[in-house]
Amino acid sequence: MKTVKSILELKEIVAKQKTNGKKIGFVPTMGYLHEGHLSLMRASKNKTDFTIVSIFVNPTQFGPKEDLATYPRDLKRDQALCESVGVDLIFAPEVSEMYPEGYSTYVDCEGNITKQLCGATRPTHFKGVTSVVSKLFNIVQPNFAFFGQKDAQQVAIIEKMVRELNFPIEIVPCPIVREADGLAMSSRNTYLSEDARKEALVLHKALLEAKTLIENGETDTKVLINEMTNTIKSSKLAVIDYVQVVDTQSLESIATLEDEFLIALAVKFGNTRLIDNYRGQVGGF
Ligand code: PAJ
Repeated sequence: MKTVKSILELKEIVAKQKTNGKKIGFVPTMGYLHEGHLSLMRASKNKTDFTIVSIFVNPTQFGPKEDLATYPRDLKRDQALCESVGVDLIFAPEVSEMYPEGYSTYVDCEGNITKQLCGATRPTHFKGVTSVVSKLFNIVQPNFAFFGQKDAQQVAIIEKMVRELNFPIEIVPCPIVREADGLAMSSRNTYLSEDARKEALVLHKALLEAKTLIENGETDTKVLINEMTNTIKSSKLAVIDYVQVVDTQSLESIATLEDEFLIALAVKFGNTRLIDNYRGQVGGF
């Protein structure tokens, strides 16, 4: 399994594979891989003939006070993990390869969808994501691209971008992978202190409680949000960023559950911001 740092070399390899009729699967990541990432790679292996994983800590999606400098990185470990699931190629460009001196072109979805939820406290984040994902799509030119539902807002925005900019790519959303105790896997979990790691379970607990209430017929989102807020507040270390119930497409808040919905949470433990969500359908259990 090769690791390529140059855009030109990557394009040559992809072109050869496509000439041979191979379907290309693509898994964009920022590295420090865990089972969540590996599940996307396995999904790509199942659906396509040639799986490419990008490992690039994208500076344009970090705010000025965010963790770009400290974001965990370990290419050797990531290479071994990719190898273990049979990835065909890693694309790991340097920042200067993606954003050479004088770089100034961005792709920005201006809709409300980027301003809700995480967009409210991370106003430039999704512009960085849509810009880098567009670049990666143009470089890799995959047939299928795999994204985790863990970042539900990211998936919704990428799907909208692909539709509106006519990328000839099918987006494949994949389920959230959790630790044995329920915490959603994230590269940022490594930042948590021992106490915060224990208390971080309130996110999943709150979502499960909401799910039970909904199964018992609750459709008033105020009631659900209240319950979840109380559960999260049972942790002394947790500071809520948002607890919301939204439409799965527009990501606008909804007052009453009808059809499909997304419950999304963002909670800070010290400087570490964790997100989690539950996507459901009324009567669809
Ligand atoms: P990163 O946080 O490394 O995540 C890469 C992919 O793995 C995303 O699609 C994310 O949703 C998925 N993922 C992360 N944790 C997961 C989990 N517990 N279960 C399932 N999937 C999970 O998301 C990014 O990188 C970046 O924004 C990127 C798209 C690469 C653009 O820079």
